[in-house]
Amino acid sequence: MSDPPNKPAVTLVSGDRLPTLDAARVRLRWLTLADASDVFEVFRDPDTMRYWSSLPMQRREQASALIEQIHACFANQSLYQWGVERRSDGRVIGTVTLASLDVSNRRADIGFALARDTWGSGYMSEAASAVLSFGFDTLGLERVEADVDPRNAASLVLLERLGFVREGLLRERWRVGTEVADSAMLGLLRREWRPPAP
Ligand SMILES: CC(C)(COP(=O)(O)OP(=O)(O)OC[C@H]1O[C@@H](n2cnc3c(N)ncnc32)[C@H](O)[C@@H]1OP(=O)(O)O)[C@@H](O)C(=O)NCCC(=O)NCCS
Repeated sequence: MSDPPNKPAVTLVSGDRLPTLDAARVRLRWLTLADASDVFEVFRDPDTMRYWSSLPMQRREQASALIEQIHACFANQSLYQWGVERRSDGRVIGTVTLASLDVSNRRADIGFALARDTWGSGYMSEAASAVLSFGFDTLGLERVEADVDPRNAASLVLLERLGFVREGLLRERWRVGTEVADSAMLGLLRREWRPPAP
């Protein structure tokens, strides 16, 4: 049966904040200014920011400003950014983002970052899976894209394990500090999405 003409293509989040998404060892939740120190620890690290679209943070106030920006972008429905809270200790160890929400084309971009000392434990596999399931099943997205530096091996391994397909290479797409970087473009379609077994 085809959709009625007035049905929105994508169901955006209503209310004043993002819903909490639960995974086995992490929960994805709304960030508040009380999380600024944890967020600063993530985005100040040169290793974590090596292939990011901006330079490492220098001051804690930049983390507060980021959280305020996340709230403003949620209010205008342009970007959803969850904090990744580790259940065992309540620490916010990273974030996962759905950006460039495009309602009429039913797509968004995914982005993620974790604190350096928490890499390699599979936390982001869990966190990104929870956001992808939410994006496809609840929001009704048909496509999620990722823009990754081709040298960013950990991100590429993670995305391809989640089912993303490399679709192209865009040259000299980013200028961060003194560096110019290409973008590997990856895409995952709703019909290809298979949530990993718990
Ligand atoms: C990308 C990132 C979130 C991955 O987090 P994570 O919790 O360590 O991810 P996972 O453990 O679930 O999976 C990472 C995979 O990459 C692999 N990997 C890590 N470094 C690698 C490298 N240099 N070369 C090849 N594979 C690598 C890991 O072995 C793991 O695969 P495995 O589970 O099969 O062993 C983390 O590395 C990070 O925050 N990077 C900096 C931010 C960033 O670049 N974000 C992406 C921008 S698009």
